[in-house]
This record gives sequence, C-alpha cells and structure tokens, in this order.
Amino acid sequence: SRPLSVGVAGLGTVGAGVLTVLRQNAALIAARAGRPIAVTAVSARDRSRDRGVKLDGLRWYEDAASMAADPNVDVVVELVGGSDGPAKALVEAALAAGKPVVTANKALLALHGAALAEQAEKAGVALAFEAAVAGGIPAIKGLREGLAANRISRVTGILNGTCNYILTCMRDQKREFGDVLAEAQKLGYAEADPSFDIDGVDAAHKLAILAALAFGRPVDFSAVHVEGIRHVSALDIRLAEELGYRIKLLGIASEVEGGVSARVHPCMVPVAHPIAVVDGVYNAVVAEGDFVGRVVLEGRGAGAGPTASAVVADLIDIARGRATPVWGAAGNALAQTPAVPMAQH
Ligand code: HSE
Repeated sequence: SRPLSVGVAGLGTVGAGVLTVLRQNAALIAARAGRPIAVTAVSARDRSRDRGVKLDGLRWYEDAASMAADPNVDVVVELVGGSDGPAKALVEAALAAGKPVVTANKALLALHGAALAEQAEKAGVALAFEAAVAGGIPAIKGLREGLAANRISRVTGILNGTCNYILTCMRDQKREFGDVLAEAQKLGYAEADPSFDIDGVDAAHKLAILAALAFGRPVDFSAVHVEGIRHVSALDIRLAEELGYRIKLLGIASEVEGGVSARVHPCMVPVAHPIAVVDGVYNAVVAEGDFVGRVVLEGRGAGAGPTASAVVADLIDIARGRATPVWGAAGNALAQTPAVPMAQH
C-alpha cells in the first residue's frame, strides 16, 4: 500500500537518527507498520551542514510551517525543541491541518501537553511522544498501555542522562562536578541550555509528563519542586557510598491526599535498589501499580539511536492507524480537568 510520507522538522542528531533507522530497518518497519514509512520532506535552517546522512531526493523547507502544509506530508515529526515559539506553532498548525504529530519535545509537553492533547483529541489525530521521556525506554507506552489496568501509586526515575553521567564520573573517578561537566557536555546529550540538565529542569519536564499519564491529570509545572546537582560534591558521594547508598538525581511523582506531589532532587538510593546500578547516560523509570507491583524499565535515555528508535515506534503506530488517546485511559476527560495544586511535601 501507499507509503506513509513523513516530514521531519529539525535535523540535528535525532532527526538524522530517524532517517537512518527508517532506511536501515526499512523492510522490517514496513512489515510491522503494514506499509512502508518514508521521510519525504525535511526542514532545517542550514542546508549545507554535513549530518552524516544522505538528503538527496527530499523536499527541503527552511520554514517548518510550510513543510507541515505540504499536501504530500502525512505526518509531522517535531524535533525543533523549546517549549514555545516555532515548535509549539508547528505542532498546533499540523494538528489544525488534521495531521498526526510525533514529537520528542518534553519542554513543550510539560508546559502545554494538556492543551495540545485536547486539540489532538478534538481533531481526532494522534499526538505521539514516546521519545520525549527517557529516550529509547518505552516509558510512555509502558505506563499508558502496558500498565493500563493498574492504579499507579508512584512513578520514580533517573530521567536525565547528562546528570547521571556526571554523578557516575564523580563517583568512579573521585572528581568534582566542575571537572566532569565539560566532558558530559561533549557527549552531545546536553540540552541547548545545559543548565536545564544540571539544574533538574529537563528531568522535571519528563516527570510532569509521566505524572500526567500515571495519575490522569495535568500537572502544574510551575509547582514542581526542582533541584539539580550543582551542589553535590565528591565527598557527599563518597560518604553516601560508605553508608551503602548511591546519589542519583531522581524525579518522584506520587498521589497524595489532595493532589499529586512531583519533585526532582538528588537522592540517596540504597545500593540494593535496582536503579542504584543504572549508571552513565542510562535512564530508569520505576512504576508501582496496585496489581503489577514494581516495574523497572532501564535503557539509554538520550542520543541519536535510542531517541530515533522511540520516534519511529510512534510512526509505526500511526502507519497502522493505532489511535491511542494522548494521555491514555484518562483520555478526553483529562483535558477538561483543571491542573491540580501540588500537595505539600
Ligand atoms: N539532555 C537530555 C539528557 C537529553 O541528558 O538526558 C534527553 O532528553
């Protein structure tokens, strides 16, 4: 049958990764999707930059909105980034045009997810965002679909690869935060504004999305307690080790009386806990459900391959016409629920 024609906005590491995954695994993806999936249009500012992938034969747009309006583009992949501005305008325009959207944009969803979900559900088109949380880990599908039978009491996670890498180096090499920061940034996993990583904002964005899915209500992002890792010293890490703990930057969301508590801060994790050994750029998501008990998902939380893997999984869902409500079982009801205030913690 006719290929699903994809337009990719934003051609950085992840965008190039999406092209590579779709080409390299084209046959198996077509079999699983029921039809071929092909990128036919891209939009990015700099056409001359070498991205390590062939761009021959693709329609090139400098302006993402024009790409979304291209009648030959069936689905828009938004990899522009940023919670407002061009990324938000692009997603809104694509949904308004009745086109499904796949996005890796955690900042956008943390701040405007409920409104965009409402728009998508009213328009009857998919808004898919597996890649927005924990890179290649199927955290969204895992929580929303795999655990759909459960009442979730708590979601915890190592949600920022850059911070986890820094903390791991500080422990293994007995070095200070300032010494390993530049190395972590060289890995290429850091946000455009790296303070989003080290001050916990990126982890908080991802936590807000997980909490919305787990508890079926939007989270007021401005009320999330956010604390990063700048003040963690090599000595803190060593003393924690002596006591049988590892220091990890965790996002923790739980249902409490009167609302949802959501916080990001460095935590002492007992060495026997499964996430204590999740090191480097790996992420982990832990969910506790009333029937399933504790589920731990672990994997690479950033980078071209893992993030593109999640983007393409969403494209396969769309090609098959699998219509999952944006936030899952809570569905449309969620969009009409006012954001709950955070309980004290
Ligand atoms: N800056 C993020 C991280 C990238 O380091 O985890 C993936 O969202």
